[in-house]
Amino acid sequence: MHHKTTIEPFRIKVVEQIRLSSEDERRRYLAEAQYNPFLLKSEQVIIDLLTDSGTSAMSAEQWAGIMRGDESYAGAASWQRLERAIKDLTGYPYILPTHQGRAAEHLLYSRIGGPGKVFFSNTHFDTTRANIEFSGATAIDLPLDIARYPEEYHPFKGNLNTDALEAAIAQWGADNVAAVILTVTNNSGGGQPVSMANALNVHDICRRYGVLFILDACRIAENAYFIRHREEGYAHKSYREIAQEMFALADGCIMSAKKDALVNMGGFLALKDLNLALQCRTVLIITEGYSTYGGLSGRDMEAIAIGLEEVFDPDYLHYRIRSTAYLGEKLRDMGIPIIWPVGGHAVYVDAKTFYPHIPVEQFPGQALVCELYLKAGIRSCEIGSVMFGKTGTDGQFIPAAMELVRLAIPRRVYTQSHVDYVVETFRELMQERDRAAGYRIVYEPPFLRHFTARFEPVQG
Ligand code: F0G
Repeated sequence: MHHKTTIEPFRIKVVEQIRLSSEDERRRYLAEAQYNPFLLKSEQVIIDLLTDSGTSAMSAEQWAGIMRGDESYAGAASWQRLERAIKDLTGYPYILPTHQGRAAEHLLYSRIGGPGKVFFSNTHFDTTRANIEFSGATAIDLPLDIARYPEEYHPFKGNLNTDALEAAIAQWGADNVAAVILTVTNNSGGGQPVSMANALNVHDICRRYGVLFILDACRIAENAYFIRHREEGYAHKSYREIAQEMFALADGCIMSAKKDALVNMGGFLALKDLNLALQCRTVLIITEGYSTYGGLSGRDMEAIAIGLEEVFDPDYLHYRIRSTAYLGEKLRDMGIPIIWPVGGHAVYVDAKTFYPHIPVEQFPGQALVCELYLKAGIRSCEIGSVMFGKTGTDGQFIPAAMELVRLAIPRRVYTQSHVDYVVETFRELMQERDRAAGYRIVYEPPFLRHFTARFEPVQG
């Protein structure tokens, strides 16, 4: 028998009530939030696609692990279990637990960064860039050229441009390069995967120039799925073996456990080099906590250790990647412009093409985010000129390269009917697209303005 529908490979044991609302109520809520969905209260949201980070549903096994958590200050059983799980997976001997990914970034990048240093990456995630720049160093993105074209297919559109990397190392001088960071999957580049061949290439270049190679591994299980199904020679390897092969190429990794470790909080730094690990450990103990718990409680460590195993389950990963593709493919079939192919953890809608009548100065991405909320209570995230736009020295508007809206899919949380509801909403928005209007900013803070900016609709 051929099964056409990819079912959720779990059944529901505990439920969390969703409060439904009317369009009138949402109109009021959105006005109160001054048209910024970051300022909404979660109970005002029906389907929350703001992020896939820390929003996973834990399994019965993980909850059982939470009860077993050993809260001893030093050498807890839960720490031993987590340390073993990370060592087995990554092959790295030195493990530093942190409260989330950016804390691990801070430990390492403040240590190896600083003025005059440079980092190269396929695309730095915002917190990665912020930690690097905060140290006084420079962060340079080296994506593939094709990554700039949302419609163009490439099986590994998240790859790092290795020709550009060699040229950049030559230009800056290898001694000034603090690290090359390969982010898998490439979140800021549309959740696109990185091939093993690309990771091998990066490894070879780093080896040749004596440069540190760090993996940002927060979605490495999702990345392994794409390698197995798209890259020659991997069809018979397990997802875990594929991840292990990639870890082996790098000198260490940073991981936000809030993604592929299927937990609500946690992260770690793992390194091959003892000296570097000792230097980072000193800062860990000063800023996060003692070295056998870092920023975590024992129960958190249990849940991460279990999540790191569950995430490589073939049925889970198939469901995960197919369910993201399900949403993306339905939207694309309907004529909604999205980043193609669909990535692992999110669908990215090209709002500039969807609302061609809204000028970028009036934030077409923000308009779509607001329409999705008003129409159906769906919360999404603008990744466009609200997030990355700038004001020039003479006050002119400098837009972001793209006006995107990210529909991030929490892991094991929503069912296919929730996703169908999102698809239906887009069908309605498609019919009314000419009527959507832009927004103007009425308040903005000096940094990371998307979190707290306030807007008002531009009257047509
Ligand atoms: N690296 C990548 C690639 C990420 O996507 C994130 C977080 C981090 C590092 C930082 O980890 O949040 O645990 O401190 N991404 C979330 C998102 C916030 O919505 O994409 P963290």
